[in-house]
Amino acid sequence: MRDVAIIGVSQTKFGELWDISFRDMIVEAGMGSLKDANIEGKDLEAMYVGNMSAGLFVQQEHISSLIADHTGLVPIPCARVEAACASGGLALRNGIIAVASGYHDFVIAAGVEKMTDVVDPTPAIATASDQEWEAQQGVTFPSLYAMIAQRHMYEYGTTREQLAMFSVVNHKNGAKNPLAQFPFEVTVEQVLKSSTVADPLTLLDCSPISDGAAAIVLCPADMAKKYTDTPVYVKASTQASGTIALHDRKNLTTIDATVNAARNAYDMAGVGPKDIDAVEVHDCFSINGILAIEDLGFVEKGKGGVAVEEGMTELDGDLPVNPSGGLKSRGHPLGATGIAQAVEMVWQLRGEAGKRQIAGTEIGMTHNIGGTGGTAAVHILSV
Ligand code: COA
Repeated sequence: MRDVAIIGVSQTKFGELWDISFRDMIVEAGMGSLKDANIEGKDLEAMYVGNMSAGLFVQQEHISSLIADHTGLVPIPCARVEAACASGGLALRNGIIAVASGYHDFVIAAGVEKMTDVVDPTPAIATASDQEWEAQQGVTFPSLYAMIAQRHMYEYGTTREQLAMFSVVNHKNGAKNPLAQFPFEVTVEQVLKSSTVADPLTLLDCSPISDGAAAIVLCPADMAKKYTDTPVYVKASTQASGTIALHDRKNLTTIDATVNAARNAYDMAGVGPKDIDAVEVHDCFSINGILAIEDLGFVEKGKGGVAVEEGMTELDGDLPVNPSGGLKSRGHPLGATGIAQAVEMVWQLRGEAGKRQIAGTEIGMTHNIGGTGGTAAVHILSV
């Protein structure tokens, strides 16, 4: 296996992007990453694109061909990778495997989703749950995560305010990110008073409906310095599966796929949770951010809420979480999220994150999950 480096990254603005089409978003992100990597499209050997549901959101399947065609990169192979909200993380992992194995040298791993063109995106998102046992019974993702939140509050005494604090910290960071969908701060009181979506979760506990794309250029580590002075190295890339339906879990408050993917990632990188300087976690709902810091091993199970309340996850805390603003404030275009998380971590590792820069970041982690944890992808990156 060869070591792999990231030599170029790019992300479009996330938000409700009426003036840019699905195909143009991916071109914008892809071209940006090539420019950042100082290479041209003709240098690429393959593309892996994370996308959950172009079919349901923009009535377009076969996006592998669409993207190769519209980027002007025919006949370079392009493969769509799908694992619900973890599609981006898996596209990155597939790109890394392609380079590590020696099959390809220069590869793009990208992600794209355009969710705002449909009147009601909720049924499309719900297809990532168990269709027969969850979605068809009327369960949606906010309600699935609300049940997890209720159980976490019951088992560990996590408070409503602690959940809200996760969103408050995200928005504080997102306010410093010009590419974020909601770049403004919110207070605990505003989170609590915003409209209830699925009790106990309110509007400001939820990631939004978003459009956006992001892209990353990968190459063998020993070639990286020819293209950039600041390569970022892939120390671990792991994926684990969990049950698709929530009711099949032994425990509602632990996402086993995260635990397994994280354990393998720490083993692969030869580091532990204390070595991680910053992390981007999958906070599709505030409760999931709290589960993530527990399941990734940063705090003991049940102590996530307290850790957030005590400031551990703030930009100047012991473990800065979601410097980008996370899914809550940066936005969550499903297939693009896993790539955008890695893009943010690359900017942090290069010292290019502007007002949200965490000083001295040398090792960063990203955590991307699909559904309620049927899939988890974890990456560890370093300078
Ligand atoms: N955070 C902050 N503000 C939000 C928001 C969010 N998550 N979602 C919408 N808003 C704002 C809108 O900008 C709009 O503001 P405006 O009135 O100033 O223009 C207002 O709230 C109402 O927006 P609207 O689009 O009508 O909201 P909605 O009620 O239709 O949708 C949610 C809100 C929370 C239900 C929707 O964002 C959602 O389903 N989120 C979860 C997505 C999801 O499940 N992802 C997959 C996770 S596994």
